[in-house]
Amino acid sequence: MRMRNPKDKDQVINSCTFFYTEEGFVKDQPIHLEIGMGKGKFLLEMALNNPQINFIGVEKYAAVASYAIKKIAPYHLPNLKILIMDAENLKDLLAHQVTTIYLNFSDPWPKKRHAKRRLTSPEYLKSYETLFKTNATIIQKTDNDALFAYSLETLKAQGYEIAELSYDLAKENKDNVLTEYEAKFQEQGIKIKYLKAIKKVKKIIFDLDNTLIKFDHDPYLLAYEQVLKKHHIPHSSEDLYAVIAKYEDTVSKYDKNQMQSFIAEAWQCDLPASFTKDLCSAIGTYWVKEKDLLLIEVLTYLKKNYDLYVLTNFFTDVQEKRLEHMGILKYFKKVVGSERFVKPNPAAFKAFCEDVDPSECLVIGDSLDHDLKPALNLGMKGLHFTKYLESSCKEVPQIKNWNELKNML
Ligand SMILES: C[S@@+](CC[C@H](N)C(=O)[O-])C[C@H]1O[C@@H](n2cnc3c(N)ncnc32)[C@H](O)[C@@H]1O
Repeated sequence: MRMRNPKDKDQVINSCTFFYTEEGFVKDQPIHLEIGMGKGKFLLEMALNNPQINFIGVEKYAAVASYAIKKIAPYHLPNLKILIMDAENLKDLLAHQVTTIYLNFSDPWPKKRHAKRRLTSPEYLKSYETLFKTNATIIQKTDNDALFAYSLETLKAQGYEIAELSYDLAKENKDNVLTEYEAKFQEQGIKIKYLKAIKKVKKIIFDLDNTLIKFDHDPYLLAYEQVLKKHHIPHSSEDLYAVIAKYEDTVSKYDKNQMQSFIAEAWQCDLPASFTKDLCSAIGTYWVKEKDLLLIEVLTYLKKNYDLYVLTNFFTDVQEKRLEHMGILKYFKKVVGSERFVKPNPAAFKAFCEDVDPSECLVIGDSLDHDLKPALNLGMKGLHFTKYLESSCKEVPQIKNWNELKNML
């Protein structure tokens, strides 16, 4: 939509108070993005009708956006913001924030050599991957048959499922907010094509300590004390705790014999052959804790729709026992301890991508450095779990409790 600059363009843009910035929205709620909002009719009506959703409209041309600004400004809506920029550059501002993208009557770019410019080209679809928080929804409306056929192809090739499809939207019994272009096409009797494409996360990979189970030193210390006493070893449970923590920092994978030698060397003593084995079984048994009923309810729901995994830095058998005590082991397809890789080694995360695309994996953990940064760097999705350890980090979306996760998925 190219047009002459309206005379008041600069003044309108300078007076706009609802540009999207890193500060975000007043309310933390799902973000829907319209790319190519044009004069803003659809965006405004959607924001008015859906106060429980935050809307961002993006428009490449300032002259066009100035019409939208004039239309939207009188409403002072807390859930509507705009950006004047090319959709190409959105990932710097909106990475991991968006749940739904609308592409309404996007320019069709009919020439083959311009195919990259279509907003559903593989290049654009890839760039949207980073914008989506977890599950991705793209909704397209168009009058253009060729663009529609092209979009169906590129979306499927990028792993989207077509959840809704219509070749004559006006005929459907749908709540449909018209765009400026759509209203004109409707008047001319042109049929509107519509699709809703969804790409869901397939694997959810949970960290364990301070994510699924609140980390607490005491059960460890109790377990350590029991084993130290049994074998008459004159070291305190705190000593043992410290030396095991050092072991984790030093090694690239966990091994029980190696850990035993590490402790023996640190203490300059011989340890009985069964020491580490006893230690591991004691940690598993001593983990007495109240069950987290909300977590159980959410895992029950998630298991029906996703494959659930645990990726954790300790011995798999010990962590499985702890999960069993909490009544949640049965929800996971696999628990992956650190016998092969210790987090944050990217290889620990890559192992989950053998049969799915990284963008179909969601990692949930309390540690930005150990869980989230390595996952996001690989193109996985990530949620920072901050129930037990508070932290503020704008780059990664947070969840404070399990209900928030259920609502998102
Ligand atoms: C044909 S108009 C449709 C406008 C509106 N969606 C409607 O349906 O009435 C397409 C709009 O998308 C904008 N646009 C095209 N490519 C864009 C891009 N890469 N980033 C942002 N806006 C873009 C154009 O400037 C134009 O205003």
